Amino acid sequence: MPKLNQRIAILGSRGIGLPIAEGITNSEITENKVIITRKNSSFSEKEKEQFICYHDNNLAVKESDIIIVAVQPKQFNDLIKEIRNELTDKHILISIVSGVNISDIESLVGKNIAVIRTMPNTAIKVGQSMTCLAFNKLGENFKSLVQTIFNSVGQTLLIEEAQFPEATVLCGSGPAFVFEFLNGYILACIQHGFNKEQAMQIASQVTKGAAEIIQKTKNDPALEIKDVTTPGGCTIYALVEMQHAGLNSALLKGIEIGIEKAKKLYSKT
Ligand SMILES: NC(=O)c1ccc[n+]([C@@H]2O[C@H](COP(=O)([O-])OP(=O)(O)OC[C@H]3O[C@@H](n4cnc5c(N)ncnc54)[C@H](OP(=O)(O)O)[C@@H]3O)[C@@H](O)[C@H]2O)c1
Repeated sequence: MPKLNQRIAILGSRGIGLPIAEGITNSEITENKVIITRKNSSFSEKEKEQFICYHDNNLAVKESDIIIVAVQPKQFNDLIKEIRNELTDKHILISIVSGVNISDIESLVGKNIAVIRTMPNTAIKVGQSMTCLAFNKLGENFKSLVQTIFNSVGQTLLIEEAQFPEATVLCGSGPAFVFEFLNGYILACIQHGFNKEQAMQIASQVTKGAAEIIQKTKNDPALEIKDVTTPGGCTIYALVEMQHAGLNSALLKGIEIGIEKAKKLYSKT
């Protein structure tokens, strides 16, 4: 596939902005270096080699076609007010900021431009993000371009904007839940005699292998569980004990509370 000639700028480049820049650069989808900005913190030598690094958002906007906004919800209003004079109808504005609706963005920008709301996760840095997307009317014209970008760094799903609080937790926060699971698995491996390196290998490969079975076969995990459990065997004993201890219940409750919090992350004023 020919490389994109549009320039991508990522405004805000720490927790998620930097992984996005790394993922897009590694995917080689664009022929141009990605621009990244920060408010105060400095850029490392490695970052300066890999990206174009600015502290000036307006310069980044001027030199780019696709702008990905990756600041915290409380930083969002100030950033848009700072760049809105520089935004033109050639720009595609992609927000990954939790809690900020497309209509909030449109009214802050005050111009008719393409706006796309997304929810990726940090697995984007290894090309494995699960990214949800929603478009405003003008943004619809760039659906295939935006999907091409995010498909180059994982998988995408078009969703109703109303589902973003759920996507924020299930996609955006998702890696943290899996890391927590992995952490517990590693502890169990170490408790049972494996060293840390072996424990990390076992835990990560088991998780990856199980996920790949579901992705490739599209089988319901409940059916796969039945395939690996011998009646009266050790697996079913372990699973039943985990359910008595509330494994699924803790996951469901935690996600529910996370979604309630996601609905209150942004204040318009
Ligand atoms: N972290 C995740 O896994 C994840 C996943 C999905 C979505 N999100 C969403 O992504 C957004 C960013 O989260 P984060 O975890 O990346 O936050 P973060 O680690 O705090 O990073 C925010 C970045 O924005 C920069 N910044 C703030 N104001 C700026 C301004 N006016 N101009 C230029 N840069 C500015 C900061 O600069 P300095 O470095 O100078 O402070 C920093 O680099 C949030 O809305 C979050 O909900 C995060």
